[in-house]
Amino acid sequence: MKNLPSKIIQAPMLGAQDSKMTIAACENGLIGSLACSSLSPEELCREIETIQRATSKPFNLNFFAHQMPEITAKQTAEQNKFLSPYFKEFSINPDNIPEGVIRRPFGKKQAEIVEKYRPQIVSFHFGLPDKNLLDAVKNTGAVVISSATTLQEAVFLEEHGADFIIAQGLEAGGHRGNFLSKVEEQVGLFALLNSMRKVIKKPIIAAGGIADKASIQAAFTLGADYVQIGTAFLLCTESKISPIHRREIQKNIADKANFSTALTNLFSGKPARGIINRFMRENNFISDKILPFPYAASANNAIKKEAEKLNKEDFSSLWCGQNPFNCQEISTAEMAKLLLSYL
Ligand SMILES: Cc1cc2nc3c(=O)[nH]c(=O)nc-3n(C[C@H](O)[C@H](O)[C@H](O)COP(=O)(O)O)c2cc1C
Repeated sequence: MKNLPSKIIQAPMLGAQDSKMTIAACENGLIGSLACSSLSPEELCREIETIQRATSKPFNLNFFAHQMPEITAKQTAEQNKFLSPYFKEFSINPDNIPEGVIRRPFGKKQAEIVEKYRPQIVSFHFGLPDKNLLDAVKNTGAVVISSATTLQEAVFLEEHGADFIIAQGLEAGGHRGNFLSKVEEQVGLFALLNSMRKVIKKPIIAAGGIADKASIQAAFTLGADYVQIGTAFLLCTESKISPIHRREIQKNIADKANFSTALTNLFSGKPARGIINRFMRENNFISDKILPFPYAASANNAIKKEAEKLNKEDFSSLWCGQNPFNCQEISTAEMAKLLLSYL
């Protein structure tokens, strides 16, 4: 596939969507994506079968490609100490916290599923999987997409087999796709697109803060070949975000002057952009006391669960980009039509 079948990709969004959004996006002129990183192999097969029954349009399966770190008892003890005021506040015993669903990277099982169902597009966040796994994907004929957050990452992706490269600007909601660079090095979309356009030969997909006519057209003016849009879909009917997450986005859109997001690693161990809440503010957004991705999420989930029982957003990861102002309570089909009308 030399060209993608639409100029606009509905971004894969873990925790915010399932196949319903993918199908609606595909059937209404976009490239629909499915975030697969928390799905078991059985769930993944079911979701793909649901999509393939509902649409014959090309869709994008998205996986994480991070390395799984080794965790020491010392690191766990350090995290427990760091979180101890919150454990105390919510009467949580850290020794009894279940591990929950751990975000595992793309592996052999997922590659076999790609070989079986042959999606037209496969995308990765946090780099690319090992060469043998990547070759297995490419041998199916799927085009491969991955996110760069710096020019250096874009060059790496081009040299290591990505067919299309996402310029993920600092504005983007959710996890940074960074895999070579640090949070301090992250680049805004204008500068990232400009530098990538000068160096990168593969088609570029712009992402981050794109949601309306002006931002879509700005991305194309700056040299993007396609755009990928996430945050704009967060209030759509098919969005799977929690009622608390939905409420906080609505509240922040209504109160524009006080809307503020930040990058934080506190929820998962990797930097991600979300609406600022108590947990982020009290701990200065970034900490080296928490476990590395993906292990930090288990303890946070335990605290979040208790806080949400009290209807508090204080410990929830409220992923959201810097431009939520075109989020609307409409169907994905209606949002797709709106976005396409801006082209
Ligand atoms: C709630 C949420 C979840 C996300 N989850 C993923 C994911 O699972 N995989 C991925 O590649 N990108 C993920 N992203 C990042 C998007 O792919 C994309 O880079 C981003 O949404 C673009 O910026 P925008 O949010 O300003 O439109 C997520 C973004 C959001 C808002």
